[in-house]
Amino acid sequence: MRLLVTGAAGFIGSTFLRVALEARPDDELVVLDKLTYAGRRENLAGIEDRIEFVHGAIEDRELVHKTMAGCQAVVNFAAESHVDRSIADQDVFARAHVIGTSVLLDAARDHGVTRYLQVSTDEVYGSIEEGSFTETSPLNPSSPYSATKAGGDLLVSAHAHTYGLEAVICRGSNNYGPRQYPEKLIPLCVLNALAGDSLPVYGDGRQVRNWLYVEDFARAIHLVLQEGASGEVYNVGGPDEVENIEVVKRIVELTGAGERLIEYVRDRPGHDRRYSLSSGKVRALGWEPLTHFAAGLERTVDWYRDNEWWWSPIRSGEYREYYERQYGRSLTG
Ligand code: NAD
Ligand code: DAU
Repeated sequence: MRLLVTGAAGFIGSTFLRVALEARPDDELVVLDKLTYAGRRENLAGIEDRIEFVHGAIEDRELVHKTMAGCQAVVNFAAESHVDRSIADQDVFARAHVIGTSVLLDAARDHGVTRYLQVSTDEVYGSIEEGSFTETSPLNPSSPYSATKAGGDLLVSAHAHTYGLEAVICRGSNNYGPRQYPEKLIPLCVLNALAGDSLPVYGDGRQVRNWLYVEDFARAIHLVLQEGASGEVYNVGGPDEVENIEVVKRIVELTGAGERLIEYVRDRPGHDRRYSLSSGKVRALGWEPLTHFAAGLERTVDWYRDNEWWWSPIRSGEYREYYERQYGRSLTG
């Protein structure tokens, strides 16, 4: 199979490439990535000679057509992934998630692609006080990030319904693990703790996230790509639900930093209180998460501790300006 994987220079996509190469070493993998601040060639270290890399955006119709020619399957990871950035400026989110998805779907039809997989998020369902979202729960996104992701999902379903495109959607909960850009809660706090910087907790810190180790999500996507029923949605939730303040306290423990670094800051506007997914449908295909939060977090902290070569250029680049804009202060170190 020749497979086009978009956005695979990012955190989850680059993990998926490794899982896919391990599971089906003879598949040909073509990566299309715009290399935004979050897309990094370093994420492909060790597998560069096993993939074809094309630099460009999924909104670029001509390039997408050229790159998709000869591919039987498409997995779309390409996205702007950070909620706080979408609150500051949503344009690029709408372009990538809605226009980009539309261009990919048109091309998939034209090229006779036999399997299209859209990588999506639990955030399209909005927040849930109790219980868990199923695949039939209504979409109720709260942020520009999740609203534009929901727009992409609806286009995928419409293409499956209207044109019979063999499409599936995987909605994952909060991922964590190696190579996650340090704007997200876990890597941000790990690197700040290691550097002795403060650990910003939004609002009261009692928001709950359903943590999923990145390799577990990548394995689920690979399985749904092979076994998922066309036109269907599959939720992929992590095994543990943890309050943000608890996550930060565990990072303090694992890094040996002091709890005095924890600082409650202004809440995220429109902050979703709790996410929780029911994953019965993907479990029925044979998937289960292998990594619990305690072990996965320890592995993640170790990875960041051992891979300064990966994060040190990030912390000294565009990220510093972003951090000042977002938190109103600069990083030390
Ligand atoms: P990421 O920000 O680490 O990576 C995104 C990648 O997409 C980068 O390589 C970037 O260069 C590329 N990209 C962005 N815009 C593009 C465009 N217009 N054209 C081509 N490439 C483009 O994000 P991630 O955390 O790896 O997320 C990957 C996917 O998984 C996204 O669709 C996201 O919505 C979804 N998701 C993420 C999580 C999570 O917790 N991180 C959970 C569920 C679903
Ligand atoms: O749920 C899946 C989603 O998870 C993905 O679709 C998104 O791409 C991904 O970014 C993630 O979204 P969140 O907004 O949940 O992740 P983030 O790491 O930004 O925040 C996790 C929680 O921590 C959230 O409740 C906000 C809070 N937070 C975050 C940051 C960056 C803080 O308290 N302080 C912070 O500095």
